[in-house]
Amino acid sequence: MPKAHEEAFHGLPEPGFAASWAERGFLRFQVPVLIPRILDYINPSFLTITEITRTIKMAKAIVNSWNEFDPLRHVIVGRADHTCIPPNEPATEAKIPEDSDMHGMWGPRPLDTVEKANFQLDNLVKVLESRGVRVDRPTPIQWNQAVQTPDFTTASQFGCMPPRDVLLTVGKEILTAAMSFRCRYFEYLAYHELMQRYFDEDPAFRWEQAPRPRLSEHSYKPGYFDEITIEQRLERTATLDFVTNEHEPLFDAADVCRLGKDLFCQHGLTTNRRAMEWLQRHFPDHRVHAVNFPGDPYPIHIDATFVPLRPGLIINNPNRRLPENQRKIFEANDWEIVDAARPYHEAPPPLCYSSVWLSMNCLVLDHHTVIVEASEVHQMEQMDQLGMEVIPVEFRDAYPFGGGIHCATADVYRQGDCEDYFPNQVPGTQVRR
Ligand code: ALA
Repeated sequence: MPKAHEEAFHGLPEPGFAASWAERGFLRFQVPVLIPRILDYINPSFLTITEITRTIKMAKAIVNSWNEFDPLRHVIVGRADHTCIPPNEPATEAKIPEDSDMHGMWGPRPLDTVEKANFQLDNLVKVLESRGVRVDRPTPIQWNQAVQTPDFTTASQFGCMPPRDVLLTVGKEILTAAMSFRCRYFEYLAYHELMQRYFDEDPAFRWEQAPRPRLSEHSYKPGYFDEITIEQRLERTATLDFVTNEHEPLFDAADVCRLGKDLFCQHGLTTNRRAMEWLQRHFPDHRVHAVNFPGDPYPIHIDATFVPLRPGLIINNPNRRLPENQRKIFEANDWEIVDAARPYHEAPPPLCYSSVWLSMNCLVLDHHTVIVEASEVHQMEQMDQLGMEVIPVEFRDAYPFGGGIHCATADVYRQGDCEDYFPNQVPGTQVRR
């Protein structure tokens, strides 16, 4: 046996049945070459076997999702276990409204609230499965563990109820977001087993991770939270003045609205312009757009603000309308942007980060079907008028754990390919220079 082969063989486990070096070399190096030749000999249409193999591989595609509305076949639904209210840090204080009952509180959430949230999450799973959608769940870790990196420390982490915040599915890729909260730095670990499994099962799956941010004090604007009125806060967010600066790319996956070839990213407290430039280079075949929504004093995540229901139709939070110059690309491509219905509730549930506009945080199952929170009667009625079949699901007990029905899910597989819904590009929003 040539020396190179001999060396290579040393690294292999000992096969019990191969008696000699010569036999072992034959098994290791010749059999894989000979099998196709033998098949070729006994079956002159061996090419067909290659085609069959390719078809089987295609059938094994686990990950594929290009937008927010094509038929959903496989999804991740979060879990509330061990969720904590993290202590204040530079990025999170901005999200807690001044009159919130969460001020000054941190630590594990009360167990009875965890159980109620899990009950509603499990029920969402049942509803999805009854509609033929395969569901996977993350593996929660003990989120009350402290984190220390060379750049920061935080006394606790957050949770894994909202996979949408962390996982950005673009086609055959799932990209773990950079994240801008220190308490969410290691949240991706809850999805590690699933990613490993998709990687093993799907030869085309791209398992990717955005650059890990340092999240030192250089990434945040000092004094951003000094006592200001809500009007001043609105002025700041309208002029793109956020607590995160442009020191390094920062984004949460839930700031990205996926519409085929075009990715619309909300510039706000959790996603900066530098991240959009990174996303544009990372997805060179896509067009990345920067959008912002004046009227939101806490612009975090696009999915209670700008929610597509099917090709050509978006509901937009009427308190946070897309500015005129940014609407042009939608108008030029015959998309309709309609005001979302008002929320039914006047306040979010206790210990909740989000606003009442989780009313529009719905999960589209296909171009005609949508899951909406069961008490949101106005939103359900509007969906009905827009021609959607509505599946009501109770979910308010889960809201405090990180958001609504869209937040609590992350796409794994939707039927369909990457479409170009915006062939008429208009200057103004594209990040590519
Ligand atoms: N930031 C979103 C809202 O609370 C989730 O409206």
